[in-house]
Amino acid sequence: MEDNLPVNVREYQELAKKALPKMHYDYINGGAEDEYTLRENIAAYGRILLRPRVLIDVSKIDMSTTLLGYNMPSPIIVAPTGAHKLANPEGEVATARAAAACNTIMVLSFGSSCKIEEVASSCDAIRFYQLYVYRRRDVSATLVRRAESLGFKAIVLTVDTPVLGRREADIRNKMVAPRMANLEGLMSFDDDIDSKGGSKLERFAHETLDPSLSWKDVEWLKSITSLPILLKGIVTAEDARKAVEVGAAGVIVSNHGARQLDYAPPTISALEEVVKAVAGAVPVLVDGGVRRGTDVFKALALGATAVMVGRPVFYGLAARGEAGARHVIEMLNRELELAMALCGCRSVAEVTRRHVLTEGDRIR
Ligand code: FNR
Repeated sequence: MEDNLPVNVREYQELAKKALPKMHYDYINGGAEDEYTLRENIAAYGRILLRPRVLIDVSKIDMSTTLLGYNMPSPIIVAPTGAHKLANPEGEVATARAAAACNTIMVLSFGSSCKIEEVASSCDAIRFYQLYVYRRRDVSATLVRRAESLGFKAIVLTVDTPVLGRREADIRNKMVAPRMANLEGLMSFDDDIDSKGGSKLERFAHETLDPSLSWKDVEWLKSITSLPILLKGIVTAEDARKAVEVGAAGVIVSNHGARQLDYAPPTISALEEVVKAVAGAVPVLVDGGVRRGTDVFKALALGATAVMVGRPVFYGLAARGEAGARHVIEMLNRELELAMALCGCRSVAEVTRRHVLTEGDRIR
């Protein structure tokens, strides 16, 4: 082991900031407009307190859980984030190996900088594939079929991005759209997209994303794949109920890491509303702002089946490649184990609503 390894996610973030060109660090780290939701995704976790229970034998802690029938050693999985080659030349292949080493699920982004085939053959793991729906439906359909034939186990349809959020750092930096390896051969790219108006990424998204995407398109997606479909980007009870009605296999409470609609609620504050609406019909996952094992514990207590982490894995990858991404997941797992022990919970099932105190609880 190297000396002086980072001891928490925040230290990895510092290393990533030093390692990356400003434009790329800003792209990864940034959020939409005033970045209110970006700050709140993290701050809202800070306003939830834990209610430790004592004198319980915690000599054995079992963090294992299941998602869509798959066993996982812990409820922490890897969120889909695009362009991992910005962080490390091995890109998503390194992340996939890190996730596999931790026996966890990786959700591969539509914006992956490695080909789906390369990631699939890099190591054995359970993987989900994240989908954006493009105006060119044939492109999305082809990618779903490729993922399905390569053994991916679920489709994560991102529903919070009919248009791209306004990320001002990217506009200021004239962020170049990262290379999307899986679109090569399917779509032509205009390398000279004029960036005078700001972010090339924004321009690319504007030309490709289908803003007409609606609930009936979930039916379309179901008609072209037999894989279970999780809807990512739901933060209200109304949409959660609709998701169950249209046959989603899971709901992911997400505001896209605060990169889409600013002033959307922090996800940990929206989780309970969604969990109640779904009423156990399908698993509910949450992402956004998870930086500590105690955050994962809080999400479990408020009803999440699993949590996804986005930027922390990216920071690990930027700082130390595959080993860094793996270390980030391992650290979060160890922190969760500690939180469970100190709260007197020996299994994920023992983590209950009574173990947390939210702001709402304190006002009541
Ligand atoms: C993302 N996210 C994202 N989501 C998605 O559905 N498809 C994608 O391609 C991407 N790409 C992406 C890139 C980068 C750099 C970031 C930071 C995020 C959102 C991601 O899946 C997840 O919702 C958030 O990252 C969760 O918040 P944290 O863990 O980063 O705070």
